[in-house]
Amino acid sequence: MADQPTSQPPKKLYIETVGCQMNVLDSELVVARLRDDGYELTDDIDQADAILYNTCSVRQHAEDKIYSALGRIKHLKKKKPGLSVGVLGCMAQKDQTQILRRAPHVDVVVGPGQLGRVPELLLKAKAESTPQLAVSLARTAGSRDHVTSSFDSYDADREPAVRPSPFQAYLRVMMGCDKFCTYCIVPSVRGPEQSRPPDSIVAEARLLAMQGVKEITLIGQTVNSYKHREPDGRTTRLSDLLARLHDIEGVVRIKFITNFPNDMTDDLLQAVRDLPKVSRYIHVPAQSGCDMILKRMKRMYTAAFYEDMLARLRETIPGSSVSSDFIVGFCGETEESFDKTVGLLERSRFKNSFIFKYSPRAGTKADGLFADDVAEEVKRRRNQVLLELQTRISLEDNRGFLGRDLEILVEGPSRSTTRKEGWDGPDQMTGRTHCDRIVVFSGPQSLTGLTARVKIENASAVTLFGRVADAQVTGPV
Ligand code: SAH
Ligand code: SF4
Ligand code: F3S
Repeated sequence: MADQPTSQPPKKLYIETVGCQMNVLDSELVVARLRDDGYELTDDIDQADAILYNTCSVRQHAEDKIYSALGRIKHLKKKKPGLSVGVLGCMAQKDQTQILRRAPHVDVVVGPGQLGRVPELLLKAKAESTPQLAVSLARTAGSRDHVTSSFDSYDADREPAVRPSPFQAYLRVMMGCDKFCTYCIVPSVRGPEQSRPPDSIVAEARLLAMQGVKEITLIGQTVNSYKHREPDGRTTRLSDLLARLHDIEGVVRIKFITNFPNDMTDDLLQAVRDLPKVSRYIHVPAQSGCDMILKRMKRMYTAAFYEDMLARLRETIPGSSVSSDFIVGFCGETEESFDKTVGLLERSRFKNSFIFKYSPRAGTKADGLFADDVAEEVKRRRNQVLLELQTRISLEDNRGFLGRDLEILVEGPSRSTTRKEGWDGPDQMTGRTHCDRIVVFSGPQSLTGLTARVKIENASAVTLFGRVADAQVTGPV
């Protein structure tokens, strides 16, 4: 950390993060940089010297939330002219100067490929009393290499103090996306797909293990498309990377999200089966069960291919769980198409599914090609139907765990069941099974970061409840 003049109190930073795991990790890295610049975190927006929003553009709703938050803090800026306001991440890359037009009190607009420059840009905005904009090149702005090099990686800066849990960390293995699903803004805001060199990933994982991290989640928009070619022609796939990370002492669990159905190769499934530290949990979004819609989405697989992949996955990895994403109300989705999605969801028995109503995004292929022709109330109803079906399946499957002893990696005190005032019973702790099911149980806080055997006594659709059956186990989960 840079030396601070002792007379100067630390500046206070308030940061809000929306969107996916990429953003959670990006915020960690931005905070690490700003701590070096003399900032400390605050939860109190009124106390802040800098307010940053790390934003998402995947659906309109995510953007609306940020624009209304910006509207709400306008008065703070009037009260405290020294206050810095920043819009970071995907919406910054997408809307650029439009943000400054809609919210002239914003000082910095910084895209996801430029986040390492946030401290410098905050200082510059203040020194020059001019808003600063730093974004990467558009995908059509030049050669692939030229565009790629405008998305900087700065992953080596890690800041354990700002992670939601000191035992868990994200590790980026890929940046960007080249799949260009027609509904999706991610390839334009996150840039071309790039797989990081395996040596730097392994080095970062070692650093995380030294910092006390037990569970590492590898992240990439299509993490199973990971492929790195060395100059000598050797290729590292995700399965090879998992094997290398598996050897790191201190790491007890490894996960990876999110997977693309077409890239779910046998070597990867076998690696999950054979490497005991790798969580038997696969998130592999289907999006729809209708071939006509999948084609319009340019997902490049059919529903039958997806279901075959799922069968192969389950055959190779016993005891695994799978989760999915679905979009309802995509352009041209008829009742018949929707019924096919219902059928796929019913047969697939996902652990859980994330279900979204289609939100047209300016600049995507679908927005130019197809009309957003499914009425909002139809989208809402279809969303509800899928949610209810998934909840019923999750509950049925979770009930299958009643009476069983499961090995849990303990994450910490349960937030939803935190102790009430005056409560002197045992602490409510939370953790996850090897197949990523959430377990809440009574047990001491000292179990945090360790593994424990828990007897399951109750189950809801999202949570298993139990009590510690055995004292802590220290070996790999
Ligand atoms: N890279 C991941 C997902 C990124 S976005 C993948 O390919 O699976 C996360 C999810 O948001 C997607 O899986 C999709 O279900 C949803 N999504 C993306 N664009 C959307 C849009 N325009 N409207 C509604 N949902 C969308
Ligand atoms: Fe978007 Fe498709 Fe890439 Fe996922 S794979 S980020 S849905 S374009
Ligand atoms: Fe959103 Fe950007 Fe992630 S658009 S989903 S925060 S990559």
